Amino acid sequence: LNYNVNKERRYILQVLFNGLRRLEYRGYDSAGIAIDSSSENPPSSSPSCPNNSVISPPPLVFRREGNIETLVKSVYQEVAETDLNLEESFSVHAGIAHTRWATHGEPAPRNSHPQSSDDGNEFLVVHNGVITNYEVLKETLVRHRFTFESETDTEVIPKLAKFVFDKANEEGDQTVTFCQVVLEVMRHLEGAYALIFKSRHYPNELIACKRGSPLLLGVKIVLTREQKAKAQGMLPEKCDKDDNREMNPDFRYWPHQGEELDPTKGQINQKELMEGDCNGSAFHDDKFLLKNGHPKELFLSSDANAVVEHTKRVLVIEDGEVVHLKDGEATILKFDNDKGKHGGSLSRPASVQRALSILEMEVEQINKGNYEHYMQKEIHEQPESLKTTMRGRLIRGGSCKAKTVLLGGLKDHLKTIRRSRRIVFIGCGTSYNAALAARPILEELSGIPVTMEIASDLLDRQGPIYREDTAVFVSQSGETADTLLALEYALDNGALCVGITNTVGSAIARHTHCGVHINAGCEIGVASTKAYTSQIVVMAMLALAIGGDTISNQARREAIIDGLFDLPNKVREVLKLDQEMKDLASLLIAEQSLLVFGRGYNYATSLEGALKVKEVALMHSEGILAGEMKHGPLALVDETLPIVVIATRDTCFSKQQSVIQQLHARKGRLIVVCSKGDAAAVSSGGSCRVIEVPQVEDCLQPVVNIIPLQLLAYHLTVLRGFNVDQPRNLAKSVTTQ
Ligand code: G6P
Repeated sequence: LNYNVNKERRYILQVLFNGLRRLEYRGYDSAGIAIDSSSENPPSSSPSCPNNSVISPPPLVFRREGNIETLVKSVYQEVAETDLNLEESFSVHAGIAHTRWATHGEPAPRNSHPQSSDDGNEFLVVHNGVITNYEVLKETLVRHRFTFESETDTEVIPKLAKFVFDKANEEGDQTVTFCQVVLEVMRHLEGAYALIFKSRHYPNELIACKRGSPLLLGVKIVLTREQKAKAQGMLPEKCDKDDNREMNPDFRYWPHQGEELDPTKGQINQKELMEGDCNGSAFHDDKFLLKNGHPKELFLSSDANAVVEHTKRVLVIEDGEVVHLKDGEATILKFDNDKGKHGGSLSRPASVQRALSILEMEVEQINKGNYEHYMQKEIHEQPESLKTTMRGRLIRGGSCKAKTVLLGGLKDHLKTIRRSRRIVFIGCGTSYNAALAARPILEELSGIPVTMEIASDLLDRQGPIYREDTAVFVSQSGETADTLLALEYALDNGALCVGITNTVGSAIARHTHCGVHINAGCEIGVASTKAYTSQIVVMAMLALAIGGDTISNQARREAIIDGLFDLPNKVREVLKLDQEMKDLASLLIAEQSLLVFGRGYNYATSLEGALKVKEVALMHSEGILAGEMKHGPLALVDETLPIVVIATRDTCFSKQQSVIQQLHARKGRLIVVCSKGDAAAVSSGGSCRVIEVPQVEDCLQPVVNIIPLQLLAYHLTVLRGFNVDQPRNLAKSVTTQ
């Protein structure tokens, strides 16, 4: 054992490791951690430091290739616990950790974060994002005799910090602050980043800043036993009330510019956070007030998942803000980039008038429960997640009798949307597929042309977006880099921008004019499942909301609303196919390829089904528009290649029957997904395996039809021995271009 680590630091290690475990789904090819070392540990080969008076012992830095558990094991092999009484006061420790999904440089310890300024770890940085001008910065730093160890873009950041710090000291500025160093570094960085800096020169301090990539600050008050008793005695229910609020049904928290703070919602504003005014009590009214000097734990993370088990009180950090944690206190400084080259300007935190948000998620949501994998849990959760998506938004009967849809986050913009010349759906991956599934019903009910854009393709082409357009951004995470850039592009072109996301406080939620949260609950599995079905349901509700009530479409609208009410039951029913899909998976386990044919409402199902199989089971799979079969795909058909045909009842059914006949004629190896009772109709003319699903309203059928394919992809992956929740080379949230 090389290092002594006391119990306090062990606690820090545990917090950081648990945080990394919660984030592992975002990247998992290497990981690293840095905590303060205790003074008993041997000094490192630190170079001499210009600011000798404050330098602290070198931090302990561990970086490993592989998953989090590899890092955890290796750290615990190296650190020994010293005997320290836990009752002693808890002094300040600042640690940082990172799990990586390689973009620049292969997964290897040297490329893992924290990246370091030098052998003595004077400055350490963890980074989410991509620095686009790192090559230029690297050249400059190399000219100043910095040597680089990694192939990452990130390594320039700590080295630049050391360069700035050394330069200030050489010029006689012994008082340069950590913030000043970071601001100077920020001014040279281009690209997207969320960064946390740690430095030996500034013990007990961390600095975080961001541009483009997500970052949040979590605040947890640590109460002594007496304070807890006092607080509970004073206001027993209020302690928990805040944190157990119901899922917001009407988009109350969709932030708009100039949104008023609402103290009755249990939010506290920045001024209260910073200045505190608790009159000696920890709880006051419905607000949780903080006082400087009150013991607290502060968390910085790119994802709420890493924070929610400690606190639900978070502040979403905005671009250009710098969070300074020092001696257990948080200060947020606004960096005004327009104030010229020399230092920018820092305004006082009180000028940042923004609410602390209460995370609307529970720790249980990010646990696997009784399931073996997150993907499995999320597939089986769909009856519940769909209910939550619709809760409070569908109105049937009651005093007004009419059946209708209420989407609170859109209500002020519906008129503008109805007047748009076109609706453009923009998204990536599964989110794009969900929008494609909803396109026909939106066109039908609104009468407005709907076009589809894959975010990166829109940007590549710089496709036309007009002021008269409504651009709808669909993203589970709300942070996908391409979708965000497309949003920026659409805003620049003056379109009305609507967000559809699962993540409250995400960049898409913050930067669109209005929107709808899908409220599917946290999705951890990299392959999106429950978010997909909730997205379709939200977009069906969007179609109903935009379409408005006319006599001519009343019956159709009511049928869809009835269908939505009953959808969770139908999904519960289709989930009973689990064993059947497992059996099918065992037959397909050794196949190289799988085709999925769909059309109409279920063209999206074919793309999404194929995407699931491809991304988790690592089997080649292609979704094909059945109408295009004769224009190429038919050449692939033989007795061996498995082909799934989606042929549930809707206006395309007879066309799909004809496709099946043609495939039978070429002795295709068919698996047909059909409506209950249609087995005979689809299997006449040749042999095929039939999967019968409950029939629902045509526009909702994609929600039901995707589920057997999700189950198939899941079981295929498990049987083929691959990692279901962390497929090779993929990450849940793609925050880089
Ligand atoms: C990644 C994920 C997919 C997801 C896509 C878009 O590729 O692996 O599951 O569909 O990003 O993500 P978003 O968060 O924007 O829906």
